[in-house]
Amino acid sequence: MNAQAGIKNASQEASLPQDENQRLSWLMRSIEGNRFLPAPDPENVFVGDGDYRAIGAEYLGHFVRIGGLRPSDRVLDIGCGIGRMAVPLTQYLDPMSGRYEGVDPVKEGITWCTQNITPVYPHFRFCQIDLAHELYNPGGSLAGQDVVLPFADASFDFIAMVSVATHLPPKEIDAYAREAARLLAPGGRLFMTAFLVLPEDLERAGARPKFTAGKDEGTWYGDPSAPLGAIGFDPLIVDGAVEKAGLETLSIGLGHWRGTESTHYQDIVVAGRPGKAA
Ligand SMILES: C[S@@+](CC[C@H](N)C(=O)[O-])C[C@H]1O[C@@H](n2cnc3c(N)ncnc32)[C@H](O)[C@@H]1O
Repeated sequence: MNAQAGIKNASQEASLPQDENQRLSWLMRSIEGNRFLPAPDPENVFVGDGDYRAIGAEYLGHFVRIGGLRPSDRVLDIGCGIGRMAVPLTQYLDPMSGRYEGVDPVKEGITWCTQNITPVYPHFRFCQIDLAHELYNPGGSLAGQDVVLPFADASFDFIAMVSVATHLPPKEIDAYAREAARLLAPGGRLFMTAFLVLPEDLERAGARPKFTAGKDEGTWYGDPSAPLGAIGFDPLIVDGAVEKAGLETLSIGLGHWRGTESTHYQDIVVAGRPGKAA
C-alpha cells in the first residue's frame, strides 16, 4: 500500500462491535485505577514522562482497536522498557492460549519485569538483548542493524513497537521490519509507532517535537544535539522498510504530535504478514 494512500484519520479507527468496545473501555478504566497492578517506582521509569498505568491502558485500547489484538494472541513487545505495555496486557491476554515475550537492551527494566510481572503472570517473559543504543545502552555489545531475536520463525501473532522506532536510525527500522516479517505467523500484525514527518508538519505551529532535517535523507531530528532522542522519518522510509521485508502496510493513523486532533500522540503504523491466520 502506498504510504500516503494508507493514511487514516482518527475517526476511521474504531471498528469493534459496540459491546466489545464498551467492555474494552471498562477494562482500560479499571486498569488505570488499579493500584494493585505491578508498577515501578516513578524515579526508575526511564521510558518517558506521564502516568505509567494510564499510558499502558491507553495503548491496550490502541492495540485492540487499531491493531486488531485478540486475547489468544502470542505477543512480542520489542523495546518493552520497564513493562508499561506488559502490565495492562496481563489483564487482557488469555493465560491458556495467549502469551507475551518482551525484549529490551536495558537490563534494569528487564530485571524489574522479571521480578514483578513473571512470578504472577508466568505466560509473560522478558529477555535482555545487549543491543547498543547511544542513549539507552551506550556500552551494548550488539549492533542493532544486525539484530536477530531469539525466537522461532512465525511464532507470534502480534508484534508491538511502541515509542521505539522514534529512537532508532533508519538501518534499524529495516532490520526490525525484516525480523517482524520472519517472526510473524501468516495473518499476524506489526503495530509500530513513529513520527512520520509530512512536508506540512514542518510548518505547523502546534507540532511537538519541532523537527529539523537529519543527517540521512528523509530523517528528522527533534533535537539535533541528541538525534535519537526523537527521530522522525519520511513516511516512505517506514512504508518502504515494511514492504521490502514482505509485510503489507494495513493502516497509518496520524498522531496529535503535529498539533492536529487524534486519539494518540505518535503516528501508528499497522502492517500485516500476508496469509490467513491458522
Ligand atoms: C521510549 S522507550 C519505550 C518503552 C516501551 N515500549 C514503552 O512504551 O513503555 C524506548 C525503548 O526502546 C528501547 N530500545 C533502544 N534501542 C533498542 C533496540 N535497538 N531494540 C529494541 N529496543 C530498543 C529502550 O531501551 C527503551 O526501553
